[in-house]
Amino acid sequence: MKDVGVFKSLAFKSKILYVFEDYFLLEEVSMKALVTYYSQSGNTEKLANAVFEGIEQAEKEIMPIKEVSSVTGYDLILIGFPVQAHSVPGKVEAFVKGIPEGQKVGFFATHGSLRGGELAVTAFYYSLTLAKHAVVLGTFGCRGKVNDKILDAVRQKAEHRAWAEEAQSAMGHPDQADLEDGKDWAQSMITRARAHS
Ligand SMILES: Cc1cc2nc3c(=O)[nH]c(=O)nc-3n(C[C@H](O)[C@H](O)[C@H](O)COP(=O)(O)O)c2cc1C
Repeated sequence: MKDVGVFKSLAFKSKILYVFEDYFLLEEVSMKALVTYYSQSGNTEKLANAVFEGIEQAEKEIMPIKEVSSVTGYDLILIGFPVQAHSVPGKVEAFVKGIPEGQKVGFFATHGSLRGGELAVTAFYYSLTLAKHAVVLGTFGCRGKVNDKILDAVRQKAEHRAWAEEAQSAMGHPDQADLEDGKDWAQSMITRARAHS
């Protein structure tokens, strides 16, 4: 008889746990994320698709920046761009400047320079200054193959030759490992966004 009491008590406790679990699951489903990007030759678009795929347990949408008509109603906006001239392309810059105060965002980028290298990081620093009223939860960068014509043009200038050599080895990127890292990053952004809500 004493054993039945123990089971009853356990069943009651697990019921309470289910109620809590349901509550928190509902909380998770209510998060809405937008993945948006600009991509000139397809690398950032590839990464954006992986980032989108990586988002779990949240409502999500993906579209190029030029198709975004409104940024209201999103708990998190993940913005992707190709690094250009060590900076953020103009179209992305204009979009980021229009982000409302307090909006949670994350930046992801593809670049010809080495991952984590100073040149790539400079563009991220700049994106942070553009989003000074937003809450930036994180950044992610990986390499992206540089267009051959650009590489040839850059090689002609002695001062850029070293960069051209570095960028040459971005061939084949973003590769599967980059895309998997991008997926993991996306989910970590969702976790952070929840922690900040
Ligand atoms: C006009 C132009 C300028 C670029 N400038 C840089 C640069 O300053 N640093 C860098 O690492 N990569 C640079 N790249 C390489 C791109 O960032 C890289 O190839 C990127 O993956 C392209 O992404 P997309 O295919 O989405 O356009 C440049 C590419 C172009 C076309």
